Amino acid sequence: MSKLKTVYTCQNCGTQAPKWMGKCGQCGQWNTFVEEVVVAKKEEFGQDPSLRSKSGAKPQLISAIETKTERRIDTKNHEFNRVLGGGLVNGSVVLIGGEPGIGKSTLILQIAMQLAGVKTLYISGEESEMQIKLRAERLLAISDSCYILSETNLENILQHIRFEMPGLVVIDSIQTLQTERIESSAGSVSQIRECTSGLLKVAKEMSIPVLLIGHINKEGNLAGPKVLEHIVDTVLQFEGDRNYMYRIMRATKNRFGSTSEIGIFEMHNDGLHEVHNPSELLLSHSSEALSGISIAATLEGMRPFLIEVQALVSSAAYGIPQRSSTGFDLRRLSMLLAVLEKRCGFRLASKDVFLNIAGGIRVDDPAIDLSVICSVLSSDQDIAIPNHTCFAGEVGLSGEIRPVNRVEQRISEAEKLGFQQIFVSKHNQKGLTLSKYNIRVRFVSKVEEVFAALFG
Ligand code: TYD
Ligand code: MG
Repeated sequence: MSKLKTVYTCQNCGTQAPKWMGKCGQCGQWNTFVEEVVVAKKEEFGQDPSLRSKSGAKPQLISAIETKTERRIDTKNHEFNRVLGGGLVNGSVVLIGGEPGIGKSTLILQIAMQLAGVKTLYISGEESEMQIKLRAERLLAISDSCYILSETNLENILQHIRFEMPGLVVIDSIQTLQTERIESSAGSVSQIRECTSGLLKVAKEMSIPVLLIGHINKEGNLAGPKVLEHIVDTVLQFEGDRNYMYRIMRATKNRFGSTSEIGIFEMHNDGLHEVHNPSELLLSHSSEALSGISIAATLEGMRPFLIEVQALVSSAAYGIPQRSSTGFDLRRLSMLLAVLEKRCGFRLASKDVFLNIAGGIRVDDPAIDLSVICSVLSSDQDIAIPNHTCFAGEVGLSGEIRPVNRVEQRISEAEKLGFQQIFVSKHNQKGLTLSKYNIRVRFVSKVEEVFAALFG
């Protein structure tokens, strides 16, 4: 008879305790402990006895270990490959997180369908086989190497994987899976952890890549615990504003590649399209110069792109002036306004300031500061910034323009898109060969200098 053991698990951080507690000692969250029954079975995940010898591995000298470059599966999706670091590594487990409706299932189904010649097993705990077929028909021609299974029981899923021997397994989503080993409901921390470990084990044993789709919670973290992120090899975040078409995929952890690459997609009626040149999409291309608009040369991960910053400054209609910002940190905006007020003498304290980054994109790159300041000043003065001008610089508390990283890349991107001048920090001048650019690079060290150059 199997032994029953009860543990209380914090649903936030995965801490386990023998007794119920109101507050988790580890993460400090209240009321997160849930009773979970663990069935302690001797038999591990229906393991094949012949594989037992594997666990008898001996320590090896690092110099004696044979290295092979890990075999990667080309997913045929350039942007997805880029984020993964060149394709899916055999035997790796990739977790893809994102808000509901952002397009996780769509993207992964598209990838499963495009992988002609690789047998893929798409397991869904959320949709029926027919629903998936209907979605697939909307997307692409139906692939003849993609198998669909609607199942939530982990033991059954593992059986199917061992029997079908696919070249790629997709699980949509990890929160819907349930193992018989634990008597708690699907989606609880221990269920997620056990199911992921089970899948990880087959992935390594059979050397096949497994793509897990995961939900995220209200705070924007992957639902379930941080432990999940430790178990898997790669964690990808799929984000974007649902009201806009753009979706950005970034790696927050990657054992087989860099985390600084991003993939950009666009949602259409027939699924997600890859975006190879984001700047062209994000700029409005209006030939008429309007006040309050400036272009920033920013960097997302390793990719440079140009983005439109829009500001509206108007006299406050009510007592307290409003500051509102979309896509840019509000506190940073307040700081930049204070710099303009205190160091440069612009009277903005009695004005409403609204800031918006076009395209529904969120930018954290400090190099956008200069552009934010210029759009605010342009709106305040009601003078348009000359066409074909862009900016890349961080603004310090005393109004100085600070240097930014990878300035060459930013300048090249601006040049490529036909810009005629770019403002950068004087401190970025060192090591730049200006003769190779067909764009005027203007070096500035203070906000006042930029103001004088733009608005006279
Ligand atoms: P979905 O992949 O189901 O999201 P997730 O799995 O992340 O919850 O995508 C949902 C949204 O995408 C849905 O609201 C409709 C939209 N969509 C399109 O715009 N075009 C398409 O071709 C498809 C399949 C979905
Ligand atoms: Mg889905």
